[in-house]
Amino acid sequence: MNQVATRPYADQKPGTSGLRKKVRVFQQEHYAANFIQAVFDVVEGKAGAALVIGGDGRFYNREVIQTAIRMAAANGFARVIVGRGGILSTPAASHLIRLRKALGGLVLSASHNPGGPDEDFGIKYNVSNGGPAPEKLTDAIYARTREIDRLLIADAPDVDLDRDGESRVGDMVVEVVDPVADYAELMERLFDFAAIREMIAGGFRIRFDAMHAVTGPYAREIFRRLGAREDSVVNGTPLPDFGGHHPDPNLVHAKALYDEMMGEGAPDFGAASDGDGDRNLIIGKGMFVSPSDSLAVLAANAHLAPAYQGGIAGIARSMPTSQAADRVAEALGIGLYETPTGWKFFGNLLDAGLVTICGEESAGTGSNHVREKDGVWAVLLWLNVLAKRRVSVAEILRDHWARFGRNYYARHDYEALAVDAANQVMDGLRARLGGLAGTRANGLAVAGADDFEYLDPTDQSLSRNQGLRVRFDDGSRIVFRLSGTGTEGATLRVYLERYEPAGGDLGMDVGTALQPLIAAAEELAGIARITGRARPDVVT
Ligand code: G6P
Ligand code: ZN
Repeated sequence: MNQVATRPYADQKPGTSGLRKKVRVFQQEHYAANFIQAVFDVVEGKAGAALVIGGDGRFYNREVIQTAIRMAAANGFARVIVGRGGILSTPAASHLIRLRKALGGLVLSASHNPGGPDEDFGIKYNVSNGGPAPEKLTDAIYARTREIDRLLIADAPDVDLDRDGESRVGDMVVEVVDPVADYAELMERLFDFAAIREMIAGGFRIRFDAMHAVTGPYAREIFRRLGAREDSVVNGTPLPDFGGHHPDPNLVHAKALYDEMMGEGAPDFGAASDGDGDRNLIIGKGMFVSPSDSLAVLAANAHLAPAYQGGIAGIARSMPTSQAADRVAEALGIGLYETPTGWKFFGNLLDAGLVTICGEESAGTGSNHVREKDGVWAVLLWLNVLAKRRVSVAEILRDHWARFGRNYYARHDYEALAVDAANQVMDGLRARLGGLAGTRANGLAVAGADDFEYLDPTDQSLSRNQGLRVRFDDGSRIVFRLSGTGTEGATLRVYLERYEPAGGDLGMDVGTALQPLIAAAEELAGIARITGRARPDVVT
């Protein structure tokens, strides 16, 4: 074992989802190693324990994995379990941690951000329940990065990551495993593969865009088991630079899929996932499904899948996610939990058995089967529901709205704002929140407003300043929040939601339906006035 001197970096504070920086930043001397050592220094119980390591295959993945393996050996781990080729989707890593009772895992990814020498890289530590490290731990890791002065690293050659099987680094066993096998088996247990297979054999066509990212191998194997045509998966080979694209499954970056699904001769079902496989985009023939609606529909129909046939215990959504799921929870007579943005807040609720299904407006949906959101899981649950109901995606949505009403919804992002301007928008509105109830914005009556804070019901931890909420008399809502994942300046997110009850006008164009709220948002926050931006950069 080798002890190597190092010096701290001041900028290793983990964000919403781990440490995320440009590759060039990670390539500084010992930068990645410092962070990994800080994790190992604060995590207890390493002796005799297993550690899972894998990533989304992006540029610099293999180099960091080799370093992490040498460091795990020197820090006392007994075993490292690593995906072949350095590949593990985020949900598959979460599953493997749980399945193999590992102490934790290093997930190497910058999610939906682009990859390549000039793009992004990331490291996230997940704990033994398979979920992202809670804030208490990430705070301790950050504190440790500020004072770190030595690395523990074994003197050993690179491990062959491309061959399954066991080898040794010092006393530690390195086990290279098929990244797909255990995960695919889990999916077969959760869902009615026979029903989906039958639907596909009947001519049902799927298009899954893996965006040259990690889900390609997963989707190929699972769709093969379902008897789907080979062209069901496109862009199915993970590439270090994702083919030069953003592996972000939204209507901008998955435009080709969107266009195909809206066009003549579209397949029956379209979907995409992101860089590390935890996000999902669902598009029916001629019909986009908003992530908030997807959560509500999946929660309302989950009982059609074997894993959830006994019913679900509760639903959790992040605060800015639309309230469509709340109406489902009410109808089912189960709990609805509203958490801050960030999947890590769902972990405790899932562990405590309070909820079964969780979702976020940022294209994340998942369940208690792992402790991360899961893109392929969401696709399979949709397929399971479709196979059981035998109606189209559009019919499922229309039917859902007719029963529960429709939450028209959009998110407006103002990216790369000057930090001062973004703070001025938020601080200005925050200062006026208390006096808003009873007033009007663009003629709409404000029912109440607050700065969202969350008290975790399982461990009583309190998270403050999680977004400004303005509620209107008719159930509509506007939320203002600063992103915790942006890498440049500040990103202001404005979440707009208008509720139209069952029997109301359920077939409006979303932009038209939200127009009065967009004007109200400007009146409340003065975004254009303060930032000089007349319109958002991205509307999702
Ligand atoms: C990541 C997290 C999600 C979160 C999303 C947006 O994907 O895993 O839980 O919803 O980022 O976060 P942001 O702070 O940028 O709105
Ligand atoms: Zn992701």
